[in-house]
Amino acid sequence: MVKQVLIVYYSWSGNTRRVAKVIHEIIGGDIIELEPEVPYPESYTATLERARREIQSGYKPPLKTRIEGIESYNIIFIGSPNWFGTIAPPVSSFLSQYNLSNKTIAPFFTHGGRGMQRMLDDLKKLCPYSKILLPLTIYRGGRDDIRNRVYRWLIEIGVQPNNV
Ligand SMILES: Cc1cc2nc3c(=O)[nH]c(=O)nc-3n(C[C@H](O)[C@H](O)[C@H](O)COP(=O)(O)O)c2cc1C
Repeated sequence: MVKQVLIVYYSWSGNTRRVAKVIHEIIGGDIIELEPEVPYPESYTATLERARREIQSGYKPPLKTRIEGIESYNIIFIGSPNWFGTIAPPVSSFLSQYNLSNKTIAPFFTHGGRGMQRMLDDLKKLCPYSKILLPLTIYRGGRDDIRNRVYRWLIEIGVQPNNV
């Protein structure tokens, strides 16, 4: 069966974007970067402050990004950096805004040393009726082995270039 693949992610400093692009190079499909209506500041400290405030209050920033025909995809890769132990607010906005019931979700996370912490649990809470595959967790943007890591992970979750 030909599966429709969507890769959707948020990235502030480019690491998650880099992983998303590698996944896309290997399996194709559509790739979309989530953009909040109000972008996060360029300054790291200011971004930390806004992120902390939003996460503490559970705020989900409105997105500029619109995704048409989400129902036509049967596997959705969702990428997020670890922000304060959880998924970045634009990813929470995406998960809350779209109905992903009965979809297969392949999460990929990047982090700065703490691993995925509560990222998977919090993602699951926002799409309780989706089938969540084993997540890929990468330290920052990964190093030279990123293609191998992604490739091995795709095989592990049963998504290979020749069966998507
Ligand atoms: C606002 C903010 C909060 C962060 N909080 C954490 C954290 O709690 N744990 C962690 O391991 N890394 C944390 N990081 C580091 C990022 O997860 C890491 O650098 C990630 O690869 C960035 O992805 P990006 O380049 O796609 O934005 C944080 C970074 C930012 C900007």
